[in-house]
Amino acid sequence: MDNTFINGISRRDFFKNIGVLGSGSLLLSVFPWLQSCSDDEKKAIVKGEKLKMAIIGTGSRGQYHMQNLLKMPHVEVVALCDNFEPHLKQAAKVYPQAKTYTDYRRVLEQNDIRAVLIATPLNMHEPVTIDALQEGKHVFCEKSMALTPEGCLAMYKAYKNSGKVLYIGQQRLFDPKYIRAMEIINKGIIGEISGIRAYWFRNNDWRRPVPSPEWERKINWRLYKEFSGGLMTELATHQLQVGNWAMRMIPESVTGYGDIVYWKDGREVYDNVSLIYRYANGVKMTYESIISNKFFGLEEEILCTKGTMEPEKGKYYFEEVQPAPGIMQLINQIEHGIFDHISFAGPSWVPETASKNAGYFIIENASTHTGESSVGFADDGSEQLLASFCEAAVTGRPAECLVEEAYYSSVLGLLGLQAMDEQRILAFPNEYKIPYLNFA
Ligand SMILES: NC(=O)c1ccc[n+]([C@@H]2O[C@H](COP(=O)([O-])OP(=O)(O)OC[C@H]3O[C@@H](n4cnc5c(N)ncnc54)[C@H](O)[C@@H]3O)[C@@H](O)[C@H]2O)c1
Repeated sequence: MDNTFINGISRRDFFKNIGVLGSGSLLLSVFPWLQSCSDDEKKAIVKGEKLKMAIIGTGSRGQYHMQNLLKMPHVEVVALCDNFEPHLKQAAKVYPQAKTYTDYRRVLEQNDIRAVLIATPLNMHEPVTIDALQEGKHVFCEKSMALTPEGCLAMYKAYKNSGKVLYIGQQRLFDPKYIRAMEIINKGIIGEISGIRAYWFRNNDWRRPVPSPEWERKINWRLYKEFSGGLMTELATHQLQVGNWAMRMIPESVTGYGDIVYWKDGREVYDNVSLIYRYANGVKMTYESIISNKFFGLEEEILCTKGTMEPEKGKYYFEEVQPAPGIMQLINQIEHGIFDHISFAGPSWVPETASKNAGYFIIENASTHTGESSVGFADDGSEQLLASFCEAAVTGRPAECLVEEAYYSSVLGLLGLQAMDEQRILAFPNEYKIPYLNFA
């Protein structure tokens, strides 16, 4: 990891490191949040600061962020808060000098704390974020935003009214291979987008071990509707954001099916979802998540007229491959017994099997993953996102459009859930449109 990400991000370095081709306003219209990356003057301010910070929710993701914060010398974690003792104790081993709390409101009363990182289950994102912003804290809140579209809107309004910095944990916005991929798409290098197929497949029960049955809902909160929207809020929101980022617009409508197909173990959330999001120009983004087969892993396949982008794999492919020699086509036709069915003067025919095209790497040494980890992996943008937040909290400059990206992906995930629950086609409701992109 380049130190510029830890002691203050230089935008110039960031683009140079990932080999982005262009510069200036065109690029920043595709990644406006990177404007928050500092110039040299701000870097100096950030280095000289000690940003006092609290962690609220010290479970798996909270502890992952704490490890990254250890590398940022201008951040001092002074408070840890969790209402589950074992997690609070684990966190206290990482930051023994920090004060511990079980009630987040006591944390927010501490005047010296300028920023809070919220990594609680989804149902607590809205109340803790709004209370923290109203107490004048800068907030990093994990994705997705809230349990309901109304909750997402309330968070967005609280952010706008606060004048504070809000970041939501959508790390792909800072993942170098995604940034480069979006640049390639945006420049039209692989043509126009015709369709998007996004999916996240796993083969496990998505459960965590519980010490005794009374802790079931507390530990396995992802499986219960009171805390979570299941696959749509925990996984899909990351990928819906990628689709919108590529399209530079928001889908107009969504429909789909959700079921509990395999893991019939008392959970309340679907283990199997299939949806179609339709954009105004007719492009569809299909979304699938199944957690009883992992063969295809996870991906957002962005299908363009001249090529295909697979950002999770870190690869892209051009559509044009050398046509098969005439003799091969003839053999193919004989083997498939269709010789009599097509005229000699007609077009040649080859079976439409998937391309074997090996493609190109989006960037050198891209880090990729299988999608199985619930925590994160190195160089997926999480560290850069968090470093950018810390810097923004010092300089007081919110990152442009970052909350809006997260807002739309969160609301779209929830609308997808509603469409599946009610088995109907849902149009994006006007009351949830906020100024951004085609809804400006
Ligand atoms: N961006 C990513 O890729 C990514 C990856 C994993 C998790 N997450 C998100 O991080 C959040 C936490 O997920 P996790 O896997 O760490 O869950 P977790 O269950 O491991 O941790 C959540 C912690 O919050 C605590 N908590 C619950 N209510 C609280 C309250 N009122 N006050 C203080 N603490 C409270 C719990 O006791 C628990 O320790 C979720 O929103 C999840 O979606 C994001």
